[in-house]
Amino acid sequence: MLIIELLNLLSRMAHSGVHKDRGELRIHENLDELGTDLAEYIAELSEASVKERGVFTIAISGGSLIGLMGRLCEAPYNKTVDWAKWYIFWADERVVAKTHADSNYKLAKDGLLSKVPVLPSHVNSINDSVSAEEAADDYEFHVRQLVKTRTINVSDISDCPKFDLILLGMGPDGHVASLFPNHPVLDEKDEWVTFITDSPKSPPERITFTLPVINSASNVAVVVTGESKAEAVHLATDDVGPDCLSLPARLVRPIRGKLVWFLDKLAASKLDGSQFSE
Ligand SMILES: *[C@@H]1O[C@H](CO)[C@@H](O)[C@H](O)[C@H]1NC(C)=O
Ligand SMILES: *[C@@H]1O[C@H](CO)[C@@H](O)[C@H](O)[C@H]1NC(C)=O
Ligand SMILES: *[C@@H]1O[C@H](CO)[C@@H](O)[C@H](O)[C@H]1NC(C)=O
Repeated sequence: MLIIELLNLLSRMAHSGVHKDRGELRIHENLDELGTDLAEYIAELSEASVKERGVFTIAISGGSLIGLMGRLCEAPYNKTVDWAKWYIFWADERVVAKTHADSNYKLAKDGLLSKVPVLPSHVNSINDSVSAEEAADDYEFHVRQLVKTRTINVSDISDCPKFDLILLGMGPDGHVASLFPNHPVLDEKDEWVTFITDSPKSPPERITFTLPVINSASNVAVVVTGESKAEAVHLATDDVGPDCLSLPARLVRPIRGKLVWFLDKLAASKLDGSQFSE
């Protein structure tokens, strides 16, 4: 068992392994290597989706993720990726003006979308002039329209949208998107997009994809760097006691899709067996 894990870890330039049903782990020496691998991963999924469906539907979130996607704005990806076929969504968004420093839209626009030829009409941002509840309803309605026309594929087990890729970060508390530990939104089964007004992290008002939508995606990648998140990575991916079963990041388990964790060495430093990966 340990030997197989060890061989898996050594089998790539970066360490990599398959962690039972909790996804593939790609552990990188540094942020530079992680950024290169992440860009290659996204570019490959984009190519495969465009070939199969004619479009690529990708949901992103905020935080350090956008910076780590920066290589996509550079050669060769800025030319080779079929940007006109991308449809961009947000797995979560802060209910603030699109010009506000806290806006995930602004972060992505400044760091990525303004640097590549994505079509403005394919950038699906929230309505920033209404309440959190209205913004969530409006966003879900919008996603439903695109599912009806099959711009977004649909899951064959639920009626949920099946995004080609959902990219998430994770907080030191194990939150993903705006799904925070012990929050009732974790139990939401019916809505695709919901809202919170009591985020433990500022700003308090947010909208977020629910777990059924995240877990219906074809691909989910969780990108986590830094030592402050090492304990949460361990609790989210290792075999730990039942106490951790409700950690939001641990509830990310695509039903038919593929889950990949992109980690740097620091974020991976508390994984079981990480002492063997040097
Ligand atoms: C792509 O990025 C490179 C830098 O990596 C830049 O020199 C080039 O002009 C860019 N090409 C396009 C089409 O934006
Ligand atoms: C946002 O919602 C308001 C109120 O319903 C509406 O007047 C406005 O047109 C919407 N904005 C966009 C960009 O859809
Ligand atoms: C769309 O989703 C269905 C089931 O959820 C799947 O069978 C099909 O292959 C998907 N279509 C494409 C072109 O990816």
